[in-house]
Amino acid sequence: MAATIIDGKALAQKVREEVRVRAKAFEEAFGRKPGLHVILVGDDPASQVYVRNKERAAEKDGLAGLVHRLPADTSQETLLAKVRELNEDDAIDGILVQLPLPKHLDELAVVDAIAPEKDVDGLHPVNAGLLVAGRDGLRPCTPSGCMRILEEAGVDPSGKRAIVVGRSILVGKPIALMLLEKNATVTIAHSRTADLEARVREADIVVAAVGKPELVRGSWLKPGAVVIDVGINRLADGSLVGDVHYGEAVEVASVITPVPGGVGPMTIAHLLENTVKAAELRARKAG
Ligand SMILES: NC(=O)c1ccc[n+]([C@@H]2O[C@H](COP(=O)([O-])OP(=O)(O)OC[C@H]3O[C@@H](n4cnc5c(N)ncnc54)[C@H](OP(=O)(O)O)[C@@H]3O)[C@@H](O)[C@H]2O)c1
Repeated sequence: MAATIIDGKALAQKVREEVRVRAKAFEEAFGRKPGLHVILVGDDPASQVYVRNKERAAEKDGLAGLVHRLPADTSQETLLAKVRELNEDDAIDGILVQLPLPKHLDELAVVDAIAPEKDVDGLHPVNAGLLVAGRDGLRPCTPSGCMRILEEAGVDPSGKRAIVVGRSILVGKPIALMLLEKNATVTIAHSRTADLEARVREADIVVAAVGKPELVRGSWLKPGAVVIDVGINRLADGSLVGDVHYGEAVEVASVITPVPGGVGPMTIAHLLENTVKAAELRARKAG
């Protein structure tokens, strides 16, 4: 069977075109662009690249993007004061604190300090709670991107068996909840799951969000399974691979996301979408 290979870059462009239209309409209505502010603490090279990409993408799509760079030895109090300052600024719609933070800082306290209506990463307990309750809120970007991929691929999760491998707050748990919302029967697997291979073989939809290169083998998959590979792993030779063995899985799956070029580009597109959504919701609330 020839698998449909998802072109995440093209799909992300489609989402971002929608973002551009909404950002322009917002600017016309309110006289300012939706604002996305990113706080970066320290000089971790990977984080520097991520935030620069977010800033550029925001500007390209008609948002006002700004990065606040703070030194690695920033205190918890200074960081919290910065978050509060951005919370109170009416021209800022989305606040994102780039994780991980340096070890001496309390990440949970920082995420908790972000105003939930500006929490475009969807990590604040209020937004996590809204997702659990099946209510509208700001949802984590990577899981939203995965759901959009399924939608665009014409995969209806209703009645299907899905397995999500990984249970992080950022990826695994929210994807599992979103699949449940779409009426899939969902298994959440993790590092203590017994006989992962057998659990994966039962699934019509397999989402891998583990961080272990090529953990899921083609032989584990049910023929025709839909495979969403969230993992991004850099090998010693510098190449990037997912959590699924792509070469094997592409022979068995009906739909598959490659790494790179699958889920990755969708994450940033959904960050921009969340920012526009936050701007629209705040404007509506302000009346
Ligand atoms: N494409 C994107 O835009 C994007 C965005 C975010 C993350 N990612 C990638 O997605 C992957 C996961 O990210 P994350 O933040 O969710 O990672 P994480 O917080 O480290 O969580 C990993 C999860 O995988 C589980 N796990 C570890 N080893 C396992 C094994 N052998 N079998 C089954 N489950 C196992 C862990 O189980 P326990 O809970 O039991 O420890 C944990 O729940 C990473 O490769 C990351 O780089 C990609």
